[in-house]
Amino acid sequence: MSQTSASSQTARWLVPLYGVFRSQGDSWKRGGPLADQDRIFTNLYGRHDWRLKGALQRGDWYKTKEIVEKGANWIINEIKISGLRGRGGAGFPSGMKWSFMNKPSDGRPKYLVVNGDEGEPGTCKDREILRHDPHKLVEGCLIAGRAMGACAAYIYIRGEFYNEASNMQVAIAEAYQAGLIGKNACGSGYDFDIFVQRGAGAYICGEETALIESIEGKQGKPRLKPPFPADVGLFGCPTTVTNVETVAVAPTICRRGGAWFASFGRPRNHGTKLFNISGHVNNPCTVEEEMSIPLKELIERHAGGVIGGWDNLLGVIPGGSSTPVIPKSVCDTVLLDFDDLVRVQTSFGTAAVIVMNKQTDIIKAIARLISFYKHESCGQCTPCREGISWMYKIIGRFVKGQAEVHEIDMLWELTKQIEMHTICALADGAAWPVQGLIRHFRPEIEARIQSRKRAMAN
Ligand SMILES: Cc1cc2nc3c(=O)[nH]c(=O)nc-3n(C[C@H](O)[C@H](O)[C@H](O)COP(=O)(O)O)c2cc1C
Ligand code: SF4
Repeated sequence: MSQTSASSQTARWLVPLYGVFRSQGDSWKRGGPLADQDRIFTNLYGRHDWRLKGALQRGDWYKTKEIVEKGANWIINEIKISGLRGRGGAGFPSGMKWSFMNKPSDGRPKYLVVNGDEGEPGTCKDREILRHDPHKLVEGCLIAGRAMGACAAYIYIRGEFYNEASNMQVAIAEAYQAGLIGKNACGSGYDFDIFVQRGAGAYICGEETALIESIEGKQGKPRLKPPFPADVGLFGCPTTVTNVETVAVAPTICRRGGAWFASFGRPRNHGTKLFNISGHVNNPCTVEEEMSIPLKELIERHAGGVIGGWDNLLGVIPGGSSTPVIPKSVCDTVLLDFDDLVRVQTSFGTAAVIVMNKQTDIIKAIARLISFYKHESCGQCTPCREGISWMYKIIGRFVKGQAEVHEIDMLWELTKQIEMHTICALADGAAWPVQGLIRHFRPEIEARIQSRKRAMAN
């Protein structure tokens, strides 16, 4: 299928959805700016004490006993009301996901696994929680664990995050010592343990089933699903893998109420969110903002604007390196949330906003990302193992203009053969950036091919 026909097919099913969405009352409300009193992560920049004493002063561990005693159904219901969607990339509704674990026990223990692998290029939000606000995560583990009926949490931390793992370990030790976790956690009668597991540096170990394999001491290779982890997960037991940020916001949601969290962002896109802004901006930063904030406002308000001014913007990768790039014309108005980014054929992903100005060689930039995915493929699936290598070879020639124009359609077709044909989403994450490049920057690829042809002819 050619690129044009694929785009128009996508457009055909997107348009009716768009119409339905538009007609939903206040669905066109935009988010931000977030008021200071509504920030969940009040030590994001590490300016205050991250240990237990500082955490208590910031309101962590307040009434945790009461929350745990309210029980699984109450916690899950509050998370459902909040509209929280997973912060690990896919945006699955967390209340529903956690409820899959809330079944009568069959005798096997249940586990919560917290995903702190954070390998997606551009993404660096979970590390701020791990090193500057670790008690939010420890408390979140207890509350999420209670919701799932889990007896223990395993926090899997990216291998390179030495200081983060170390602070986390100290916070866990403090919590044990204060009786907040362990036997009779917080005096609630509930027993709950937390363990830290450090990764060894492979991106694929962030995929939930590869992560489980890795904790079990095996190579980080994704499992075929079904069975899903909620049935057969860590050590063969019911397990839920969920992102650091998702778990860390749970205590505040339970304290302030699901309705409070749901008051931020547009329908189906609720809450506050950590955004990473990197690339060609004057002040790269991580910031907590309201969901549905316009992309332009986020960049200008918090990151000091695009280097060279807004008109010097070429494009933005909005949700970490796996998400398709969008050009300036889209960036002018798009909102940062799950639905608006799908509308413009990209994705919210991890909310890691990578800004590229007009001084960027966009073909080379995307080629560099593909070399990352090629390196990180675990090799189990042919379309991923072979397909990403082929994409890399072809796009590598595009960088030099050493290609024929019809090869652009060949590359598009190749991405379509990779997409949705593999065990895990790593391969999709490699195909989508190439699709974004062709969708929006085809004239640049063609111009480079023509320019090389002219140079060769002279
Ligand atoms: C290749 C690959 C890498 C991933 N890396 C991460 C990661 O570093 N952190 C993360 O939370 N989720 C990562 N995910 C998503 C997880 O598989 C899983 O969906 C997520 O942890 C669920 O958490 P949530 O429900 O809180 O979003 C990755 C997925 C894939 C396919
Ligand atoms: S898609 Fe790639 S990374 Fe995922 S299981 Fe298959 S080969 Fe491994």
